[in-house]
Amino acid sequence: MGIFDGRRIVLGVTGGIAAYKAVEVCRRLVDAGAHVSPILTKGAEKFIGRATFDALASEKVQTSLWEEEHPIPHTNLGQKADLILVCPATARLLSDYRTGRSADLLTATLLATRAPVIVCPAMHTEMWEQPSVQENIKELIQRGVEIVGPEEGRLAGGDDGAGRLSDPVSIVAAVERVLNSGLNSQIQDFAGLQVLVSAGGTKEPICPVRYIGNRSSGKQGHAIAIEAATRGAVVTCVTTEPSQSPQHPHLRVVAVETADEMAQAVFSQAAKSDLVIMAAAVADFTPVTKSDKKIKKSEEGLEIHLEPTVDILASLGSSHNGKQILVGFAAETNDLEENAKKKLNTKGVDLIVANDVSEANVGFNHDTNAAVLFDSTGRRTELPLADKRHIAQAILDIALKLRVDKHREIGETQ
Ligand code: PMT
Repeated sequence: MGIFDGRRIVLGVTGGIAAYKAVEVCRRLVDAGAHVSPILTKGAEKFIGRATFDALASEKVQTSLWEEEHPIPHTNLGQKADLILVCPATARLLSDYRTGRSADLLTATLLATRAPVIVCPAMHTEMWEQPSVQENIKELIQRGVEIVGPEEGRLAGGDDGAGRLSDPVSIVAAVERVLNSGLNSQIQDFAGLQVLVSAGGTKEPICPVRYIGNRSSGKQGHAIAIEAATRGAVVTCVTTEPSQSPQHPHLRVVAVETADEMAQAVFSQAAKSDLVIMAAAVADFTPVTKSDKKIKKSEEGLEIHLEPTVDILASLGSSHNGKQILVGFAAETNDLEENAKKKLNTKGVDLIVANDVSEANVGFNHDTNAAVLFDSTGRRTELPLADKRHIAQAILDIALKLRVDKHREIGETQ
């Protein structure tokens, strides 16, 4: 039995030097039981022959809207697919897909599907870094497309830099994750549970005009909140970014600004929550005095005295009931694992989600994140770069498993 038994995957290959790696991706998918339907663009055929995919895939290569056996090949492929994987994806493909331009069989198939789509870009660094390409990527992520890579490394022509196709093992792992997460969203495994999530960065006022804050956008916390609600939980999201919060009938949004307001809102909900997830970036310090008038410019500079805020997570960790699952985050720029393990213990949590916010596309304000998770039983789980909704799904999967284990343990000792 393969992990992809019975799953239909359309493998779109576009014209880049990395097209040869799609051969290995195809072989791995087929070996794992998937039915792979390959589509080659005209450009792809310049780099790799049809015969290779004809021999390896589950059916013959298709290249055109007009010359195939099926009268409407794009709807046939798009409707039957469980997932579409574009590997490698050129800048042209990203642009056509974003703008909805049906330029060939592959782009037509991408438009004619409701299946999840994974796109693996590969191109030269200069192309990858073009604002237009980055905007296309950002927009596709916002629409729920999973982007895998690119990575840094050797490129065609002896160059080095960002733009190299991710390795086939990571690409196949992303296929597995997306196919499984698609299943998760159908199930209601959080039904009957109350989940409390904090999101966003607190703003500590200095005067009516200025504040001390941080770069958190609330995206990661909001992704957790909507994912939990989709899976059946009744969710309270305490957030500093209420206008950015997703909406769901099971999701109640509580707007706060300061660490103190966040603490009060969280403490008032925590006792009745089965899971508490502190994804917010809470300020560690707040000004001792807040001027009630705008502080004027002065040649002498300005001294602001700060005092520590309440550590909401540590306070919950020292008092939470044995049945509740408490999840903390650790935003680090160095010694990620060491610092995260310290926080796991000092804050008394069941699970800590550590993200290295100095890494590209990780942490504050990005649509993507990557994390290492440590739980109180000593388990370590690595979540590679993915959009925040997928990171949220993985965190909830692990938190739910911890809850089941904890309740089983409590049941056995009673
Ligand atoms: O919001 P995004 O733009 O999507 O970015 C996501 C994120 C980077 C903010 C998120 O992934 C993240 O790392 N959140 C935690 C940020 C943080 O404050 O980390 P920390 O290591 O300083 O704090 C550790 C934990 O203690 C956190 O769970 C925090 O919520 C909690 N804490 C911190 C201070 C405080 N006074 N009270 C707390 O409860």
